[in-house]
Amino acid sequence: MPQIVFLPHEDLCPDGAVVEAQTGESILDAALRNGIQIEHACEKSCACTTCHVIIREGFDNLEPSDDLEDDMLDKAWGLEPDSRLSCQAKVADEDLVVEIPKYTVNQVSEG
Ligand code: FES
Repeated sequence: MPQIVFLPHEDLCPDGAVVEAQTGESILDAALRNGIQIEHACEKSCACTTCHVIIREGFDNLEPSDDLEDDMLDKAWGLEPDSRLSCQAKVADEDLVVEIPKYTVNQVSEG
């Protein structure tokens, strides 16, 4: 089973985490299943950017993003070349290293 390493995030996983993922599940679902509460304001329907993550290793093993995801990502806080929406990015059979950005658009607008 592929593993996902989540790099430390101040609120969501202060010490970082290593989780087992299932091939074909989204990075978001793997995180939530393991108690890492990445935001998902639109309930995984590719209509927000709160589930934005940056893939530090393994990006090329993911299915490429589609146009809708790319359009949404353009609005994400802290966009990087290896950014993905974690509800849309499906785990393949390779390990990943994932960084959860410090902010989401929700948090920025609220405060
Ligand atoms: Fe809204 Fe992923 S949860 S795009």
